[in-house]
Amino acid sequence: MSADSTHLQSSAVINEAVQTLRNGGLVAFPTETVYGLGADAKNAEAIKKIFTAKGRPSNHPLIVHLAAPDKFDQTQIDWVALLAPWTRDLSEEALKLINAFWPGPLTLVFKKDKSVLNELTGGQDTVAIRAPSHPIAQELLRKFKGGVVAPSANRFGKVSPTSAADVRNEFEGMLDLMVLDGGDCEVGIESTIIDLSSGDKAVLLRPGAITPSEIFAKTGVKVYQPGELKGDQVVNDLPKVSGSLKAHYAPTTPLRLYAPGRVLDALSEFPDIKSRVAVAVWDSESSLVLEDHPSTDVEEVIVSSDPTAFASKLYRSLRDLDQQEWDLILFPEPPVGEEWDGVRDRLQRACFGSGPSSSSHDNN
Ligand code: TXA
Ligand code: MG
Repeated sequence: MSADSTHLQSSAVINEAVQTLRNGGLVAFPTETVYGLGADAKNAEAIKKIFTAKGRPSNHPLIVHLAAPDKFDQTQIDWVALLAPWTRDLSEEALKLINAFWPGPLTLVFKKDKSVLNELTGGQDTVAIRAPSHPIAQELLRKFKGGVVAPSANRFGKVSPTSAADVRNEFEGMLDLMVLDGGDCEVGIESTIIDLSSGDKAVLLRPGAITPSEIFAKTGVKVYQPGELKGDQVVNDLPKVSGSLKAHYAPTTPLRLYAPGRVLDALSEFPDIKSRVAVAVWDSESSLVLEDHPSTDVEEVIVSSDPTAFASKLYRSLRDLDQQEWDLILFPEPPVGEEWDGVRDRLQRACFGSGPSSSSHDNN
């Protein structure tokens, strides 16, 4: 975890955060994936504040974050008891996933207990839950002794924050927000979401660092792609996963992907752009040669060809490049392969929503 000593929050600060949550306030906190904007999951008024702060439509459900008990307290964690206030619908497969991956970047969707607030689930009969592994998130949740709902701490449709400073920039002048600083997020993209609510099949709703093949290798549970089940499952019209909107995670600078070796083709689609273009280049590749474009000021940004390292820096790079007033940002198309699915998903949505009027695409 990148929570080094400069980012360890004192217990006084965590206690203040706990008090803020108990009083119905919002607290931003680090997780291993991205920073979350937290509120008491049992307080409808507090939950409404999240939707207002984010500008998020109220039918987009939130994830409940739970503490995993301290490992020193217990060798075998009794997840059934911990989950009872949220869901009583725990299959054997669910317990296999939980025991293999919690705490960690995996969110599971269950049939909800009737006490779970509609404000939290967007009116659906399911609830999404995860136990984050970041030590500050864990300490906050353990001391709070309850569920904390937390979407990514960004304005709706925008790039998720991976540092405390990103969160502050996101809500500057809008919201006087307490932000716990846990350094840079290690995973860098949001958790993998798996739906366990619709019968006996586990369905991938959002790809992330934990892939279906890793899940199969560790638990023997097969995870289906949503497309694989069309026909034998009821298709729900609700936007279950706001990240499944075509436009999301978007910078205000236009962003496009280029096919291997095809930077010039990508540039030629923008005949008007004569000036400043940032081009991300794999660290495994030799430098770009762009002498055909003398009028274009091209700057290369090196990106990792390892999917885990790439994901860890993706939102950081998009935010930083977005600040630098480029006319266009080009990223290489991620290679084919499941280990790139999370990154490819975020990059494609970021491209679709990018550009100065990006907020107008958000409801597509
Ligand atoms: O890594 C993460 O999951 C981060 C950190 C902060 O934990 N959180 C996060 O929250 O990404 P958010 O709200 O930005 O995205 C949560 C996604 C949304 O796309 C939402 O639609 C989906 O989870 N979701 C929540 N409840 C659901 C449910 N009952 N059924 C299906 N999808 C659900
Ligand atoms: Mg989000």
